[in-house]
Amino acid sequence: MVVLVTEAEFQRAPDVFESAPVRCIATPGDEDALAAAVTRHGARYVIVGSVKYIGRLYDTLPRGGVIARFGVGHDGIDKEKATAAGLFCTNTPSVLDESVAELAILLMLAAARRLPALDAEMRRDQWALGPAGIELRGKTLAIVGGGRIGQATARIASQGFGMRTIACRRKAVTTAAPPFDEVTTDFSATVRGADFVSLHLNAEPANRHFLDRTRLAMIPSHAWLINTARGSVVDELALYDALVGERLAGAALDVFDREPYVPADPSRDLRTLPNVVLAPHVGSHTREANRGMAERALQNVMLAETRDYERMDVVNPEVFRQQ
Ligand code: 8YV
Repeated sequence: MVVLVTEAEFQRAPDVFESAPVRCIATPGDEDALAAAVTRHGARYVIVGSVKYIGRLYDTLPRGGVIARFGVGHDGIDKEKATAAGLFCTNTPSVLDESVAELAILLMLAAARRLPALDAEMRRDQWALGPAGIELRGKTLAIVGGGRIGQATARIASQGFGMRTIACRRKAVTTAAPPFDEVTTDFSATVRGADFVSLHLNAEPANRHFLDRTRLAMIPSHAWLINTARGSVVDELALYDALVGERLAGAALDVFDREPYVPADPSRDLRTLPNVVLAPHVGSHTREANRGMAERALQNVMLAETRDYERMDVVNPEVFRQQ
């Protein structure tokens, strides 16, 4: 049994893939090269990153094959095409929650204490305190998307820093559902009193540019935006305009609409703004989460090999009707 693992993902947990009970082969991640490798090796299983696969991959893998995401978001996979081709799509829930939540907290602290600016100034031989930072204690964190990562972020924020947390969820379970102090379905009510707004939405098509000009305008101008979810949920041009217009204190971003980041309009490049903190999509890039994602993705393909489909993390359950 051969499992093709896209190169970038293979390199995040090489020891797991090299010592797996199945043969894992590192393969280029672009769709044509991956599809060609599927044919060359007669592979049924691929483990892939978050890039988009739109065509050949679905025609090349045999029915009953698996496209296993190394990660939780599966917006890069066309579930309809996969289902029509009789392919299982899986992800790796839970194993990266703490890693992403800790990055969201790090971004919030970096913003609150101006860490990137202080670091840059010292490297320029400047010893300048600059404007005072703020404490997190007693501040309000609005969490948009109350799933596992949003909950992990709220738990650290409230138990570790004494922040008040309010979540915006699609369905309000009750008004206070731990770890959140408050839960609502109303975005404007969620962000109204916020000092930080952290996005934890998935990137389904309906969430494209969820944070548009209208919703950005609902966030108080002293608040910071934190995004560790997906770049596509934010209208980056509207965000740029809000930051330049001082309608938002700043933004700390780990994810971008196009990755590696390319500004939607070259004259509105988020990297040129001093009130933006940037990271190159490293939310889940910890040793622990990398290992967890590799092991869980491998487990998903091995379960498929033994036809133990029910125990797989299948994200296109419609495929069961195709088997
Ligand atoms: C990973 C992610 O870096 O889980 C996700 O959806 O975007 C990230 O955690 C990515 O999956 C790497 O392939």
